[in-house]
Amino acid sequence: SANKKLLVLPGDGIGPEVMAEVRRVIDWMGRNRRASFEIVEGLVGGAALDAEGTPCPDKTVEAARDADAVLFGSVGGPKWDSLPFDQRPELGILRLRKDLGLFANLRPAIVFDPLADASSLKQDVVRGLDVMIVRESTGGIYFGEPRGVHTDSNGKRVGIDTEVYSEDEIARVARVAFDLARKRRNKVTSTEKANVMQSGRLWRAVVSEVHKAEFADVELEHMYADNAAMQLCSRPKQFDVILASNLFGDVLSDLAAALTGSLGMLPSATLGAVGSNGKRHALYEPIHGSAPDIAGKGIANPSAQILSFAMLLRWSFGMEEDARLIERAVEQVLAGGLRTADIMQTGKNRAGTAEMGAAVLRELDRLSA
Ligand code: NAD
Ligand code: IPM
Ligand code: MN
Repeated sequence: SANKKLLVLPGDGIGPEVMAEVRRVIDWMGRNRRASFEIVEGLVGGAALDAEGTPCPDKTVEAARDADAVLFGSVGGPKWDSLPFDQRPELGILRLRKDLGLFANLRPAIVFDPLADASSLKQDVVRGLDVMIVRESTGGIYFGEPRGVHTDSNGKRVGIDTEVYSEDEIARVARVAFDLARKRRNKVTSTEKANVMQSGRLWRAVVSEVHKAEFADVELEHMYADNAAMQLCSRPKQFDVILASNLFGDVLSDLAAALTGSLGMLPSATLGAVGSNGKRHALYEPIHGSAPDIAGKGIANPSAQILSFAMLLRWSFGMEEDARLIERAVEQVLAGGLRTADIMQTGKNRAGTAEMGAAVLRELDRLSA
């Protein structure tokens, strides 16, 4: 069969560092599981800006369209922070999501058992946690018009962003959430601010309509987003699938990451619609950023990037067994007591990025022997 074509976009900061460990996992897969990938590497973010003068070159978007799946690192950093909005590195990921129609960002927050005591919350509150956040990712306040900074009639600056959601945008991401819930614990908690936002009110109405018409067998609960943040910190195990807008999903998923022990643990899949040929565009990205505070030190946690590759195998290629193998290898490394600095605990062994990657390969060898 034809090779699986992957576009790899390391980006900035720790992106290239953690991506290097995934490349080792990919090579391992080729040697041991006869899974061969054709890898194309591309530029995005500050790296693309420096090399080509734009954070998301057309040829990167074309390569992403052409690939079977995209593995994305992270973009941004202090070097580019004062640039105007249309040149910022972050535009790289925003444009890829938008241009490829990647409207559903799946962010699983899973507490690996060895890390249950690494969370900022009490062990019994988080042990066994398995929540799936479905974040809308091509609409809302990230893209709504009007936007910008204007000067008003008093000569004062006014910053404007606009939250806009059409019913179709809400319905299609709601379907993704309900579909997922059916394969999990059959419950969706839809979050918004229907009490103060017009778009939130429409969100609640449309989610209810889709539920009634197509997914009445799934348990649906509506929750204000601020309450959801509180509930995530106090009783996170009540949740199965959380459905959220682009902005609320961004905030809630960083919060959920903290429950799992570290932001460096959380992968994600950003999926488009299934086309008439049965294929869908998909991009896989850790939820963390370029971590400028630790970039270049070789201490970043590569787990989120490696687990994003596992999601890629699962969602783009149906390689469930291989995805699970990688997830188990990461868990076993943690069980063995190795920790990157972000999840360092007393009595554990501190590892750098490359040591962590090497340990994952050893576990892959052992688990598949
Ligand atoms: P961040 O996620 O980069 O970092 C937040 C904190 O978590 C930092 O202390 C960092 O050291 C730590 N951290 C993150 N990932 C880690 C890992 N794998 N291992 C160990 N520690 C890790 O968020 P930020 O500092 O708010 O943003 C930094 C830059 O990244 C900004 O330019 C921002 O726009 C960008 N960003 C990009 C993405 C993306 O590319 N998808 C996501 C979020 C932020
Ligand atoms: C994320 C990031 C991005 C977002 C930024 C870098 C554009 O925070 O992927 O969570 O807000 O979507
Ligand atoms: Mn974010």
